[in-house]
Amino acid sequence: MPEISNKGRAMPASPIRKLAPFAEQAKKRGIHIYHLNIGQPDVETPHQFWDAIKNIDRKVLEYSPSNGFEDLRKKYAAFFQTRYHLNNLLPEDLLITTGGSEALFFTMLSILDAEDEIIIPEPLYANYIGFSKSGDIRVRPIPTSIENGFALPSIDEFEKVITKNTKAILICNPNNPTGYAYSATELDRLKEIALKHDLFLISDEVYRDFTYDPSIPYTSILEIAGLEQHAILIDSVSKRFSACGARIGMVATKNKLVLETILKYAQQRLSPPTVEQLGTMAMFDVEEDYFKEVNKEYKKRRDTLVEALQKIDGVTCPVPGGAFYCIVQLPVEDTDDFCRWMLSDFNYQGETVMMAPASGFYATEGKGKNQVRIAYVLNSKNLQKAIKCMEEGLKAYKIANAEK
Ligand SMILES: Cc1ncc(COP(=O)(O)O)c(C=O)c1O
Repeated sequence: MPEISNKGRAMPASPIRKLAPFAEQAKKRGIHIYHLNIGQPDVETPHQFWDAIKNIDRKVLEYSPSNGFEDLRKKYAAFFQTRYHLNNLLPEDLLITTGGSEALFFTMLSILDAEDEIIIPEPLYANYIGFSKSGDIRVRPIPTSIENGFALPSIDEFEKVITKNTKAILICNPNNPTGYAYSATELDRLKEIALKHDLFLISDEVYRDFTYDPSIPYTSILEIAGLEQHAILIDSVSKRFSACGARIGMVATKNKLVLETILKYAQQRLSPPTVEQLGTMAMFDVEEDYFKEVNKEYKKRRDTLVEALQKIDGVTCPVPGGAFYCIVQLPVEDTDDFCRWMLSDFNYQGETVMMAPASGFYATEGKGKNQVRIAYVLNSKNLQKAIKCMEEGLKAYKIANAEK
């Protein structure tokens, strides 16, 4: 049989999906599963999207321009100007991509060569590792810790990992998987490092509509004066509008050469999805109340989750400031084993919980072994039931392990 590539072999499986076969088996046994493993929001996608798609009056499903429809780029920029007061973001500064995923991928391939290094605070969004591997780019993780809620490390810590091959820093704000929302002071620190060492600063802001602490006003990378040639923004409609399946995102930067290079990659894949671009254009007209309601709902879920988790013996869970995830430390040695066991060997009143073992969110081998990532994408009532189920699971797992 012909052999697959070394790159393909080295590509990590998604830590979010790798337990799926065990979940399938549990479902076949009639067990109900609370999915806390994946950031698939359950909120309805705005009706504007569906209405626009139903009313499409076209006879041929054509490609769009590689950088997306001009009308969508205009709408995107106008939305950022009105909602986030990012007045310097113009339609010509952005390019429409097939989700934030493609925006990340094209950006990495445009600014980093094989063997170049990118610094990413860890735990980190697992796909950053896969994207880097595709381009033979080296991830240099910089540790953040559960003890201080995963705050950004000091400049010294960054400087320790900067080498002559370092080309970029990538942050996710607010963060998946930690839920940490970066303050303006922390971003200033990053600006200092980026300018001093002439590094690109990529900010993945796909969760920017999900912040819960008004005392930490949101700062976008594009707002920081003096970073125009270094800053690259990654955005997506997946989470903002609960429209993950639309596969629409964008990358924005004032650095013309970067955008021109990204466009060459975009030309290779011809165009982002046509129908979904038309739907997304209409979605940007959604009323402000939509965001208020969604934010209120997620804040309620976060509070319910954290309160329930913090009551369990041996469980540590910092309060996440944004996104809809948190990293939780459990009183077990190996969460890969515990999460699998929850699906294969346990149920509480016919129900169990699926979580993502946190080891897959660390680039450093062996880290995060006693942590899980939880996505609070269920309503508060179901979250309470899920956490009760997890608490019972922890007790039963302890007994099962003692008997081994
Ligand atoms: C941090 C982060 N960035 C980017 C993405 C990519 O999202 P999409 O490709 O759906 O826009 C995700 C999806 O979960 C994410 O969590």
